[in-house]
Amino acid sequence: MTYEYIIAETRQNVGLIQINRPKVLNALSSGVMDELGVAIDSFESESSIGAIVITGNEKSFAAGADISQMKDNTFAEAFMGNFITSNWERVTVCRKPVIAAVAGFALGGGCELAMMCDFIVAGDNAKFGQPEINLGIIPGAGGSQRLTRAVGKSKSMDMCLTGRMMDAEEAERSGLVSRIYPAAELVDKVVEIAQEIAEKSQIAASMVTEVVDRAYESTLTEGVLFERRAFHALFATEDQKEGMAAFVEKRKANWKNR
Ligand code: HXC
Repeated sequence: MTYEYIIAETRQNVGLIQINRPKVLNALSSGVMDELGVAIDSFESESSIGAIVITGNEKSFAAGADISQMKDNTFAEAFMGNFITSNWERVTVCRKPVIAAVAGFALGGGCELAMMCDFIVAGDNAKFGQPEINLGIIPGAGGSQRLTRAVGKSKSMDMCLTGRMMDAEEAERSGLVSRIYPAAELVDKVVEIAQEIAEKSQIAASMVTEVVDRAYESTLTEGVLFERRAFHALFATEDQKEGMAAFVEKRKANWKNR
């Protein structure tokens, strides 16, 4: 499939999606978000794909929602058109692991899109921020909620109230990102991580994303119960039998995703 605003390609068992509007620092227009949804649909339905990477370019992951496109919105248009809800959140319901590879700017909706992914790996030049306050608005794609859960109240308030940017070091220290690589190597490194994940049992990997997400959605008791039931259920899979047999027989597991 040919896209106008993104580039989608397959690298071994990894689906790689690159946001591609470099002239506007990958500002997220509705066209970008529609195409991102289509690309995720396509990778999710392709059985050989075990993980997905979303990235931008070395200068910018995405500098936010497209300001030119939304500046004349009225409340009625935003509300009746279901702005954001209609096409921004496809990634949050993707059942395959999705990694955001963030170099350069991840601002506003860009930071929010990265936080919708299962985890974020940063280039050493990454800059995260929720600068909406400088435009007279607030985060609208979950930033005030996901950033707070990721880095805590003080840092989230600081970021959302001042609109300042957080560099990669601070983001790693704060738990927003899992690892940092030199920006020039970022995509290859993250594809390697994604390939490592893609080589696991897809059932177990998908279950991991569900149970870790549940930590954000429920009480500890309910989350642990959810994890326990998912854990029990995995004993009904061929992959559990194969994984444990392979360990005992000192060989590599041959996953069937069944
Ligand atoms: C539309 C954008 C844009 C955006 C940059 N551009 N960000 N266009 N929407 N979010 C465009 C600029 O207008 C400019 O176009 C070109 O990209 C290069 O940007 P410059 O500003 O010239 O680059 P630089 O001086 O390097 O500054 C980089 C920057 C700045 C600090 C990232 O561009 C900036 O502050 N951008 C806006 C960041 C922001 O406020 N994001 C939040 C948006 S609101 P021309 O044509 O002049 O070359 C949001 C709401 C989310 O995301 C809520 C739910 C989605």
